[in-house]
Amino acid sequence: MKADSKWVLYTAGGVVFLISFVGMLIYGYKTFYLESEPAASKQYAYHFALIAEETDNDYWRLVEKGARDVARENDIYLEYVAPQKADNEELLNLMDRLIAAKVDGIMTQGVEGQRFVNLVHRAVERGIPVVTVDTDVKSSERKAYVGTDNYVAGQLLGQALLEDTDGEQYVGIVTGRAESINQQERLAGFKAAVKTKSRIHIIETAESNITQIGAMQAAYSLLKQHPNINALVGMSALDGIGIVEGLNEIAIARPLYVVAFDVLPETIRLIKTGDIDATVAQYPEEMGAKVVEVMMGLQQNDLLDNQIFTETRIIRKADISRSGELQ
Ligand code: BGC
Repeated sequence: MKADSKWVLYTAGGVVFLISFVGMLIYGYKTFYLESEPAASKQYAYHFALIAEETDNDYWRLVEKGARDVARENDIYLEYVAPQKADNEELLNLMDRLIAAKVDGIMTQGVEGQRFVNLVHRAVERGIPVVTVDTDVKSSERKAYVGTDNYVAGQLLGQALLEDTDGEQYVGIVTGRAESINQQERLAGFKAAVKTKSRIHIIETAESNITQIGAMQAAYSLLKQHPNINALVGMSALDGIGIVEGLNEIAIARPLYVVAFDVLPETIRLIKTGDIDATVAQYPEEMGAKVVEVMMGLQQNDLLDNQIFTETRIIRKADISRSGELQ
């Protein structure tokens, strides 16, 4: 090759390299910089984190919605994080990381055990307020709790059963996760409400792992093992829906009383069709909105009232309008 053509080749190669290099820088900057640091692209008043029990759970998506609405109105950057599938260890690891990231406030489902208490202590020491939502851990240094009074909600489940049934009731209970504090409180409230009534017999409790399929399997095996069960109680948001599926699997002919928890659209539909007799409503969207307001307040002062209970009530067919609204 002549010296001239070599020179042309090297120059052309150099130009192509330069163009690709600059292109890579611009493209890389746009892709990675903007995606990895959304909070930095705008100045927010505060950066709060909301930790849910499970990412794609319909109930927690409602808590998130309420929280996002208030965050948007108040210029707050809200990070919604959760384990893919309910898992306390993973939730606690997320909390640990958020403390290290020095967010301005952590709103989280309360979790049983010393590690949660220690993490709340560490957050507070570093000036990060923690507010529990949906489930409280009273023994921790959380600044406040926003959510249902879960013991009272459990009593309401019992009250519905007592009001809606006559005669001997052999009760199967489907609970979300036995290790969840809110499930333990609801169960205690339920037991207290029916304790003095000798016609109510609690037969067995089975876990759904807060999934619909888990609740279906739990109901199925409760009924297979105890054919005398004539009332089923669901204690977390997808349990009632799964119980009905389980009943359909068995194709049970005799009447069975079903009381559920929460008012997800499918639960409302099943109350209208008569498959679920009653449910205990919680108000997750209100919880989400309120917890962000409380966290905003805590950026200025501590609270006087540190237990903020949202509403709970029994819902039956008569409480639902034709369009599915609660009345
Ligand atoms: C509970 C939540 C739970 C959800 C599961 C609700 O009733 O309050 O703690 O994560 O059910 O579906």
